[in-house]
Amino acid sequence: MSVIEVQELGKEFQVPQKDPGVLGAVRGLFRPRYENKKAVDQLNFQVEAGEIVGYIGVNGAGKSTTIKMLTGILMPSSGTVRVLGRDPHKQRVENAREIGVVFGQRTQLWWDLALIESLDLIAKIYDVPPARYKEVLEQFTETLELGSLLKVPVRNMSLGQKMRSELAAALIHQPKVVYLDEPTIGLDLIVKERIRDFIKKECGSKGMTVMLTTHDLGDIEELCQRVIIIDNGHVIYDGPINTIKKRFGKFREITFETAENAKAPTLPAGAEVLAAEERKLQIRFDRTVSSASKIASTVMSQMEVTDFSLSEPDLAGIVKQIYNGALDMEEK
Ligand SMILES: Nc1ncnc2c1ncn2[C@@H]1O[C@H](COP(=O)(O)OP(=O)(O)OP(=O)(O)O)[C@@H](O)[C@H]1O
Ligand SMILES: [Mg+2]
Repeated sequence: MSVIEVQELGKEFQVPQKDPGVLGAVRGLFRPRYENKKAVDQLNFQVEAGEIVGYIGVNGAGKSTTIKMLTGILMPSSGTVRVLGRDPHKQRVENAREIGVVFGQRTQLWWDLALIESLDLIAKIYDVPPARYKEVLEQFTETLELGSLLKVPVRNMSLGQKMRSELAAALIHQPKVVYLDEPTIGLDLIVKERIRDFIKKECGSKGMTVMLTTHDLGDIEELCQRVIIIDNGHVIYDGPINTIKKRFGKFREITFETAENAKAPTLPAGAEVLAAEERKLQIRFDRTVSSASKIASTVMSQMEVTDFSLSEPDLAGIVKQIYNGALDMEEK
Protein backbone atom coordinates (compact mmCIF):
# COMPACT_ATOMS: atom_id res chain seq x y z
CA MET A 1 0.00 0.00 0.00
CA SER A 2 1.28 3.47 -0.87
CA VAL A 3 1.54 6.04 1.92
CA ILE A 4 -0.35 8.66 -0.10
CA GLU A 5 -2.95 7.66 -2.66
CA VAL A 6 -4.80 10.27 -4.67
CA GLN A 7 -7.44 9.17 -7.17
CA GLU A 8 -9.45 11.36 -9.52
CA LEU A 9 -9.22 14.06 -6.89
CA GLY A 10 -11.08 17.31 -7.51
CA LYS A 11 -11.77 20.52 -5.61
CA GLU A 12 -14.10 23.24 -6.76
CA PHE A 13 -14.50 26.61 -5.09
CA GLN A 14 -17.46 28.89 -5.47
CA VAL A 15 -16.10 32.29 -6.34
CA PRO A 16 -18.45 35.28 -6.03
CA GLN A 17 -18.74 37.25 -9.28
CA LYS A 18 -19.07 41.01 -9.23
CA ASP A 19 -20.36 43.21 -12.01
CA PRO A 20 -18.40 46.42 -12.49
CA GLY A 21 -19.47 49.73 -10.96
CA VAL A 22 -21.54 50.74 -7.96
CA LEU A 23 -24.71 49.29 -9.43
CA GLY A 24 -22.98 45.97 -9.91
CA ALA A 25 -21.77 45.96 -6.30
CA VAL A 26 -25.29 46.70 -5.03
CA ARG A 27 -26.81 44.02 -7.25
CA GLY A 28 -24.18 41.59 -5.92
CA LEU A 29 -25.36 42.30 -2.38
CA PHE A 30 -28.93 41.30 -3.12
CA ARG A 31 -28.48 38.65 -5.74
CA PRO A 32 -24.95 37.23 -5.44
CA ARG A 33 -23.74 35.26 -8.42
CA TYR A 34 -21.22 32.48 -8.04
CA GLU A 35 -19.01 30.75 -10.50
CA ASN A 36 -17.37 27.40 -9.92
CA LYS A 37 -13.60 27.39 -10.06
CA LYS A 38 -11.82 24.06 -10.42
CA ALA A 39 -8.67 24.40 -8.32
CA VAL A 40 -7.82 20.70 -8.55
CA ASP A 41 -9.13 18.52 -11.35
CA GLN A 42 -8.94 14.73 -11.71
CA LEU A 43 -5.63 14.45 -9.95
CA ASN A 44 -3.94 11.07 -9.70
CA PHE A 45 -0.69 10.10 -7.98
CA GLN A 46 0.80 7.87 -5.34
CA VAL A 47 3.69 8.39 -2.98
CA GLU A 48 5.57 5.48 -1.44
CA ALA A 49 7.06 5.30 2.05
CA GLY A 50 10.31 7.23 2.41
CA GLU A 51 9.98 9.22 -0.81
CA ILE A 52 10.66 12.97 -0.88
CA VAL A 53 8.52 14.28 -3.71
CA GLY A 54 8.75 17.79 -5.13
CA TYR A 55 5.30 19.19 -5.93
CA ILE A 56 5.65 22.09 -8.32
CA GLY A 57 3.62 24.32 -10.61
CA VAL A 58 3.00 27.99 -11.36
CA ASN A 59 1.08 30.30 -8.99
CA GLY A 60 -2.51 29.13 -8.69
CA ALA A 61 -1.82 25.67 -10.17
CA GLY A 62 -3.53 23.98 -7.21
CA LYS A 63 -0.58 22.89 -5.03
CA SER A 64 -1.71 24.31 -1.70
CA THR A 65 -5.27 23.13 -2.33
CA THR A 66 -3.93 19.58 -2.82
CA ILE A 67 -1.86 19.78 0.37
CA LYS A 68 -4.90 21.05 2.28
CA MET A 69 -6.91 18.03 1.10
CA LEU A 70 -4.06 15.67 2.02
CA THR A 71 -3.88 17.12 5.52
CA GLY A 72 -7.66 16.95 5.97
CA ILE A 73 -8.18 20.73 6.23
CA LEU A 74 -10.28 20.77 3.06
CA MET A 75 -12.86 18.25 1.93
CA PRO A 76 -12.50 17.08 -1.68
CA SER A 77 -15.35 17.85 -4.08
CA SER A 78 -14.72 14.58 -5.92
CA GLY A 79 -12.39 11.60 -5.97
CA THR A 80 -10.54 10.02 -3.08
CA VAL A 81 -7.50 10.66 -0.90
CA ARG A 82 -5.93 8.08 1.37
CA VAL A 83 -3.01 8.77 3.68
CA LEU A 84 -1.70 5.69 5.50
CA GLY A 85 -4.97 4.07 4.49
CA ARG A 86 -7.14 6.75 6.11
CA ASP A 87 -9.47 9.40 4.78
CA PRO A 88 -7.71 12.55 6.08
CA HIS A 89 -10.89 14.64 6.28
CA LYS A 90 -13.17 12.07 7.91
CA GLN A 91 -10.44 10.75 10.21
CA ARG A 92 -8.83 14.08 10.99
CA VAL A 93 -7.72 13.29 14.53
CA GLU A 94 -6.09 9.95 13.71
CA ASN A 95 -4.54 11.48 10.60
CA ALA A 96 -3.15 14.48 12.51
CA ARG A 97 -1.13 12.22 14.82
CA GLU A 98 0.85 10.84 11.91
CA ILE A 99 1.56 14.00 9.96
CA GLY A 100 3.65 17.15 10.27
CA VAL A 101 2.81 20.29 8.32
CA VAL A 102 4.55 23.55 7.54
CA PHE A 103 2.77 26.28 5.60
CA GLY A 104 5.51 28.78 4.80
CA GLN A 105 2.98 31.55 4.32
CA ARG A 106 1.53 31.42 7.82
CA THR A 107 2.68 30.47 11.27
CA GLN A 108 1.11 27.71 13.30
CA LEU A 109 2.91 28.59 16.50
CA TRP A 110 1.37 30.53 19.34
CA TRP A 111 2.29 34.09 18.59
CA ASP A 112 2.72 35.29 22.20
CA LEU A 113 4.35 32.22 23.67
CA ALA A 114 8.06 31.65 23.90
CA LEU A 115 9.12 28.94 21.43
CA ILE A 116 9.90 26.46 24.19
CA GLU A 117 6.39 26.88 25.61
CA SER A 118 4.86 26.16 22.21
CA LEU A 119 7.04 23.10 21.78
CA ASP A 120 6.20 21.80 25.28
CA LEU A 121 2.51 22.19 24.49
CA ILE A 122 2.77 20.41 21.16
CA ALA A 123 4.69 17.54 22.79
CA LYS A 124 1.89 17.22 25.37
CA ILE A 125 -0.88 17.37 22.75
CA TYR A 126 0.81 14.57 20.83
CA ASP A 127 1.68 12.51 23.93
CA VAL A 128 5.37 12.43 23.14
CA PRO A 129 7.07 10.49 25.99
CA PRO A 130 9.16 12.99 28.05
CA ALA A 131 12.47 11.19 27.49
CA ARG A 132 11.85 11.05 23.75
CA TYR A 133 10.83 14.72 23.69
CA LYS A 134 14.01 15.73 25.52
CA GLU A 135 16.13 13.81 23.04
CA VAL A 136 14.40 15.25 19.93
CA LEU A 137 14.45 18.77 21.36
CA GLU A 138 18.18 18.58 22.02
CA GLN A 139 18.77 17.31 18.52
CA PHE A 140 16.63 20.03 16.88
CA THR A 141 18.15 22.76 19.04
CA GLU A 142 21.49 21.79 17.60
CA THR A 143 20.59 21.20 13.95
CA LEU A 144 18.30 24.22 13.66
CA GLU A 145 20.39 26.39 15.98
CA LEU A 146 17.44 27.17 18.22
CA GLY A 147 19.45 27.66 21.44
CA SER A 148 19.08 31.42 21.62
CA LEU A 149 15.47 31.34 20.37
CA LEU A 150 13.81 29.00 22.84
CA LYS A 151 12.83 31.81 25.22
CA VAL A 152 11.82 34.27 22.50
CA PRO A 153 8.12 34.80 21.68
CA VAL A 154 7.36 33.96 18.06
CA ARG A 155 6.05 37.48 17.41
CA ASN A 156 9.56 38.85 17.97
CA MET A 157 11.31 36.49 15.55
CA SER A 158 12.66 37.20 12.08
CA LEU A 159 11.22 35.25 9.14
CA GLY A 160 14.14 32.79 9.09
CA GLN A 161 13.99 32.24 12.85
CA LYS A 162 10.24 31.66 12.62
CA MET A 163 10.65 29.12 9.85
CA ARG A 164 13.27 27.15 11.78
CA SER A 165 10.89 27.16 14.75
CA GLU A 166 7.99 26.00 12.53
CA LEU A 167 10.00 23.04 11.31
CA ALA A 168 10.88 22.00 14.86
CA ALA A 169 7.21 22.28 15.86
CA ALA A 170 6.06 20.25 12.85
CA LEU A 171 8.46 17.38 13.51
CA ILE A 172 8.67 17.21 17.30
CA HIS A 173 6.24 14.25 17.38
CA GLN A 174 8.27 12.46 14.67
CA PRO A 175 5.45 12.05 12.14
CA LYS A 176 5.46 9.47 9.36
CA VAL A 177 4.27 11.90 6.68
CA VAL A 178 5.43 15.50 6.28
CA TYR A 179 3.93 18.24 4.11
CA LEU A 180 6.09 21.28 3.51
CA ASP A 181 4.32 24.04 1.57
CA GLU A 182 7.00 26.57 0.60
CA PRO A 183 9.23 26.12 3.64
CA THR A 184 11.98 28.34 2.24
CA ILE A 185 9.89 31.23 0.92
CA GLY A 186 11.52 34.61 1.45
CA LEU A 187 14.59 33.22 3.21
CA ASP A 188 18.21 34.10 2.56
CA LEU A 189 20.58 31.52 1.12
CA ILE A 190 22.21 30.59 4.42
CA VAL A 191 18.91 29.87 6.18
CA LYS A 192 17.69 28.00 3.07
CA GLU A 193 20.78 25.78 3.22
CA ARG A 194 20.26 25.10 6.90
CA ILE A 195 16.63 24.17 6.32
CA ARG A 196 17.50 21.89 3.42
CA ASP A 197 20.16 20.14 5.53
CA PHE A 198 17.64 19.73 8.32
CA ILE A 199 15.04 18.20 6.00
CA LYS A 200 17.66 15.84 4.57
CA LYS A 201 18.82 14.76 8.00
CA GLU A 202 15.54 14.64 9.91
CA CYS A 203 13.16 13.46 7.21
CA GLY A 204 15.34 11.79 4.59
CA SER A 205 17.48 9.67 6.85
CA LYS A 206 14.57 8.72 9.12
CA GLY A 207 12.49 7.40 6.26
CA MET A 208 9.68 9.95 6.55
CA THR A 209 7.49 10.45 3.49
CA VAL A 210 7.66 14.07 2.38
CA MET A 211 5.73 16.23 -0.07
CA LEU A 212 7.56 19.46 -0.71
CA THR A 213 5.96 22.39 -2.49
CA THR A 214 8.31 25.14 -3.56
CA HIS A 215 9.10 27.69 -6.23
CA ASP A 216 12.78 27.30 -5.41
CA LEU A 217 14.11 24.65 -7.72
CA GLY A 218 17.30 24.56 -5.65
CA ASP A 219 15.21 22.93 -2.89
CA ILE A 220 14.00 20.33 -5.38
CA GLU A 221 17.45 19.59 -6.78
CA GLU A 222 18.91 19.11 -3.34
CA LEU A 223 16.13 17.11 -1.78
CA CYS A 224 13.98 15.25 -4.31
CA GLN A 225 14.51 12.45 -6.76
CA ARG A 226 10.98 12.64 -8.05
CA VAL A 227 8.85 15.61 -9.08
CA ILE A 228 5.16 15.99 -9.79
CA ILE A 229 4.39 19.04 -11.91
CA ILE A 230 0.85 20.31 -11.91
CA ASP A 231 -0.85 22.85 -14.08
CA ASN A 232 -4.49 23.98 -13.92
CA GLY A 233 -5.19 21.42 -11.24
CA HIS A 234 -3.86 18.32 -12.96
CA VAL A 235 -0.62 16.43 -13.32
CA ILE A 236 1.43 17.27 -16.40
CA TYR A 237 4.56 15.39 -15.35
CA ASP A 238 5.29 12.75 -12.73
CA GLY A 239 8.66 11.07 -12.69
CA PRO A 240 12.33 11.26 -11.84
CA ILE A 241 14.09 14.62 -12.08
CA ASN A 242 16.79 12.95 -14.13
CA THR A 243 14.31 11.92 -16.82
CA ILE A 244 13.15 15.48 -17.43
CA LYS A 245 16.71 16.66 -17.34
CA LYS A 246 17.64 14.12 -20.02
CA ARG A 247 14.51 14.62 -22.08
CA PHE A 248 14.59 18.39 -22.07
CA GLY A 249 18.27 18.76 -21.38
CA LYS A 250 19.15 18.01 -24.99
CA PHE A 251 19.38 21.72 -25.65
CA ARG A 252 22.59 23.67 -25.09
CA GLU A 253 23.23 27.35 -25.36
CA ILE A 254 26.23 29.13 -26.83
CA THR A 255 26.78 32.81 -26.24
CA PHE A 256 29.14 34.65 -28.60
CA GLU A 257 30.72 38.02 -28.02
CA THR A 258 31.26 39.71 -31.33
CA ALA A 259 33.56 42.53 -32.49
CA GLU A 260 30.67 44.45 -34.02
CA ASN A 261 26.95 44.48 -33.40
CA ALA A 262 25.73 40.97 -34.07
CA LYS A 263 23.44 40.23 -36.98
CA ALA A 264 21.45 36.99 -36.95
CA PRO A 265 23.66 34.46 -38.84
CA THR A 266 22.61 31.55 -41.04
CA LEU A 267 22.71 28.48 -38.84
CA PRO A 268 22.85 24.72 -39.35
CA ALA A 269 19.76 22.56 -38.68
CA GLY A 270 18.78 22.18 -35.04
CA ALA A 271 19.99 25.64 -34.03
CA GLU A 272 18.14 28.90 -33.44
CA VAL A 273 18.99 32.42 -32.37
CA LEU A 274 17.61 33.22 -28.92
CA ALA A 275 18.85 36.81 -28.76
CA ALA A 276 20.99 39.12 -30.88
CA GLU A 277 21.94 42.16 -28.85
CA GLU A 278 24.75 44.65 -28.92
CA ARG A 279 27.89 42.59 -29.52
CA LYS A 280 26.22 39.53 -28.12
CA LEU A 281 24.62 36.58 -29.83
CA GLN A 282 22.85 33.82 -28.01
CA ILE A 283 22.12 30.55 -29.80
CA ARG A 284 20.32 27.45 -28.68
CA PHE A 285 20.87 24.11 -30.35
CA ASP A 286 19.72 20.54 -30.06
CA ARG A 287 22.83 18.49 -29.33
CA THR A 288 21.29 15.37 -30.84
CA VAL A 289 21.13 17.20 -34.18
CA SER A 290 24.09 19.55 -34.16
CA SER A 291 27.25 20.20 -32.15
CA ALA A 292 28.94 23.10 -30.43
CA SER A 293 31.91 22.99 -32.78
CA LYS A 294 29.68 23.04 -35.87
CA ILE A 295 27.76 26.07 -34.57
CA ALA A 296 30.95 27.84 -33.54
CA SER A 297 32.64 27.38 -36.91
CA THR A 298 29.48 28.42 -38.80
CA VAL A 299 29.13 31.62 -36.76
CA MET A 300 32.86 32.42 -36.94
CA SER A 301 32.80 32.14 -40.71
CA GLN A 302 30.14 34.87 -40.80
CA MET A 303 31.41 37.37 -38.21
CA GLU A 304 34.34 38.23 -36.03
CA VAL A 305 33.98 36.53 -32.65
CA THR A 306 35.99 37.72 -29.64
CA ASP A 307 34.80 35.17 -27.12
CA PHE A 308 32.21 32.46 -26.61
CA SER A 309 30.85 30.28 -23.83
CA LEU A 310 28.75 27.14 -23.66
CA SER A 311 26.12 26.49 -21.03
CA GLU A 312 24.02 23.53 -19.92
CA PRO A 313 20.34 24.16 -19.16
CA ASP A 314 19.49 24.15 -15.47
CA LEU A 315 16.34 22.76 -13.94
CA ALA A 316 14.75 26.22 -13.85
CA GLY A 317 15.12 26.55 -17.61
CA ILE A 318 13.73 23.08 -18.19
CA VAL A 319 10.72 23.63 -15.95
CA LYS A 320 10.00 26.89 -17.75
CA GLN A 321 9.94 24.99 -21.04
CA ILE A 322 7.49 22.47 -19.55
CA TYR A 323 5.23 25.23 -18.16
CA ASN A 324 5.30 26.76 -21.63
CA GLY A 325 3.89 23.62 -23.15
CA ALA A 326 7.02 21.72 -24.22
CA LEU A 327 5.45 18.47 -22.98
CA ASP A 328 2.40 18.85 -25.25
CA MET A 329 4.67 19.47 -28.21
CA GLU A 330 6.67 16.34 -27.51
CA GLU A 331 3.59 14.20 -27.22
CA LYS A 332 2.16 15.29 -30.55
N1 LIG B 1 -10.63 29.33 -0.59
C1 LIG B 1 -10.65 29.56 -1.89
N2 LIG B 1 -11.72 30.10 -2.49
C2 LIG B 1 -11.76 30.33 -3.82
N3 LIG B 1 -10.75 30.03 -4.66
C3 LIG B 1 -9.64 29.49 -4.13
C4 LIG B 1 -9.53 29.22 -2.71
N4 LIG B 1 -8.30 28.67 -2.49
C5 LIG B 1 -7.69 28.61 -3.68
N5 LIG B 1 -8.48 29.09 -4.67
C6 LIG B 1 -8.15 29.14 -6.11
O1 LIG B 1 -7.72 27.86 -6.51
C7 LIG B 1 -6.62 27.94 -7.39
C8 LIG B 1 -5.45 27.15 -6.83
O2 LIG B 1 -4.95 27.77 -5.66
P1 LIG B 1 -3.75 27.18 -4.80
O3 LIG B 1 -3.60 28.02 -3.59
O4 LIG B 1 -3.95 25.72 -4.60
O5 LIG B 1 -2.52 27.41 -5.79
P2 LIG B 1 -0.95 27.15 -5.58
O6 LIG B 1 -0.53 26.19 -6.63
O7 LIG B 1 -0.68 26.79 -4.16
O8 LIG B 1 -0.34 28.57 -5.92
P3 LIG B 1 0.88 29.39 -5.28
O9 LIG B 1 2.11 28.90 -5.99
O10 LIG B 1 0.56 30.80 -5.63
O11 LIG B 1 0.89 29.14 -3.79
C9 LIG B 1 -6.33 29.42 -7.58
O12 LIG B 1 -6.94 29.84 -8.76
C10 LIG B 1 -6.99 30.08 -6.38
O13 LIG B 1 -7.43 31.36 -6.68
MG1 LIG C 1 0.36 27.69 -2.59
